[in-house]
Amino acid sequence: MCGIMGYVGDREATSILLDGLRRLEYRGYDSAGISTLDSNRKIHVVKDVGKVEQLAQKAELSGLRGIAGLAHTRWATHGGVTMLNAHPHLSCNREVTIVHNGIIENYLELRRDLDAKGHLFVSDTDSEVIAHLVEAVYRNKKDVLPALTDVVRQLKGAYAFAAILADAPNVMVGARQDAPLVVGLGNGENFLASDALAFIGHTDRVIFLDNRELVLLTEKNVTIYDFEGNVKQKPATQIAWELGSVSRREFEHYTLKEIHEQKETVLQALRQDPRSVDVFVDALERAGKVYITGCGTSFHAALLAKLLFTTYAKIPVEVLLSSEFDQYEELLDKKALLIAVSQSGETADVLSAVKAARKMGVKVCSIVNAMGSTLVRESECTLLNNCGPEIGVAATKSFTSQLMIFNMLALRLGQREAELSDLWSTGRLVEKTLGLDAQIQEIADRLHVANDFYFVGRSLHHPLALEGALKLKELSYIHAEGMAAGELKHGSLALISEGVPVVVLNPEDGTYGDTLSNASEVKARGGRIIGVSTKPSKVYDEYIEIPVAAPNIYPVLEAVPLQMLAYYAAVSRQQNPDYPRNLAKSVTVK
Ligand code: F6R
Repeated sequence: MCGIMGYVGDREATSILLDGLRRLEYRGYDSAGISTLDSNRKIHVVKDVGKVEQLAQKAELSGLRGIAGLAHTRWATHGGVTMLNAHPHLSCNREVTIVHNGIIENYLELRRDLDAKGHLFVSDTDSEVIAHLVEAVYRNKKDVLPALTDVVRQLKGAYAFAAILADAPNVMVGARQDAPLVVGLGNGENFLASDALAFIGHTDRVIFLDNRELVLLTEKNVTIYDFEGNVKQKPATQIAWELGSVSRREFEHYTLKEIHEQKETVLQALRQDPRSVDVFVDALERAGKVYITGCGTSFHAALLAKLLFTTYAKIPVEVLLSSEFDQYEELLDKKALLIAVSQSGETADVLSAVKAARKMGVKVCSIVNAMGSTLVRESECTLLNNCGPEIGVAATKSFTSQLMIFNMLALRLGQREAELSDLWSTGRLVEKTLGLDAQIQEIADRLHVANDFYFVGRSLHHPLALEGALKLKELSYIHAEGMAAGELKHGSLALISEGVPVVVLNPEDGTYGDTLSNASEVKARGGRIIGVSTKPSKVYDEYIEIPVAAPNIYPVLEAVPLQMLAYYAAVSRQQNPDYPRNLAKSVTVK
């Protein structure tokens, strides 16, 4: 979590960094700050608690001069949300400024040593220790690279940091260990960031750093080293993400824009390099056993994948929560294939599961949105979501892309040619479903005052019930639970009283009749039924009509009204759906 960015070049750094911070804000929005090094070798810092826009309003920002600088947007881990804990941090003599993403596990030990040497700490963060450590080591070595290799030798934990030293003007340094860091190669200027999105408006040529790599950047040169200080040659990659796709266009929020983009992104997910699909399918066919892992929304996609693989390809699958993976790692079948699903490709729980699986000799393939992310590099094969950057903190279009890819794999393995070609109709069906926007806004306007919501569905609709509840909680802060429709009567029915909203996912497929009976049981106890279906029923107090489709496509269509319901409930409750409280998009801590 936290977004970091650095710039060194021939232009004033502040506005470039501020623009980058706006694009990195999805990574955390507790506080934000910028530091620059001016032509008199003085480091200046401006920071504030709250979002980037709050920082942008600060008058001091316009006086922040320098052609090298750092920027940070924070998701607090060590130390509360305060001005002093905001980054960038300074060493006590203001000789070093740093920004950091991740956790320094041995910071207390390092801080004690530095305290004893007279360093004065002003924050409660683990990060500040890096600034003091760089200062202390550089004072002895007087050379940036040996100082940096010494610093990373002493740091333990998962981190990416960037630093600027007053004594080494117009040199920026960076280090990566288990947290993302990408170099952007410009013309007479270079960039460093947690995500290429930060600088994509300036260059699309990037180098993805790997673990245990350091980088020294000047306006003209970029040199990469390993943690021992040996030079490494790494090729640059051209990335394809369009600048236009990170603007909100005519939409009020990124979340709404991303919901609407799904009419195209569901098809983008199908446009895969055929060789990559062959490799993935081959891995599935050869696997003695298939596990799928993920967190949150990606976990819900994995649950749906299990049903698709079982139904259409007759391949049994076990789904394991990445955050619980430790419990199973000893039991893994060595001939297995692990499919890791992640929008960001940087989720610490997922990466840790992948590491454990690889250690046990299990082959890992992944389904990822962020190209160049750690998960892609840790996998033997990958299919990319191809849905473009997802800025809204809640996963929307990346979820339906994951569902499309799993659909494609299951149908291909099961040689279900007719259903496979029918997948291409999903774009049109999603477009039709997007027409529900005004109706759902109106339902959310009426029901956003509810204290609790329930979401139910059977079979393929069960993971969607879980997802609908997660989305509503996350965006609107209304308590919500998702469950298998048949489970209601085993306990949760006790919670239903007059007017409690229950969303019933019930298009006409094999589960229709049973689910409708469960809906009637809820209605008989006073529940307010919101039916998402292809067929009206007097059981439904609100009827949300989705188009008729093949059963495997229904989950994709259901996702759309569920996302809209959560979005509009948040808006009705005057919450910003793009930045839910306490959350961040990329969860890089375990
Ligand atoms: C919910 C949401 C999270 C993520 C989860 C995994 O809307 O976005 O639950 O799905 O943190 O993230 P990725 O997919 O990036 O591994």
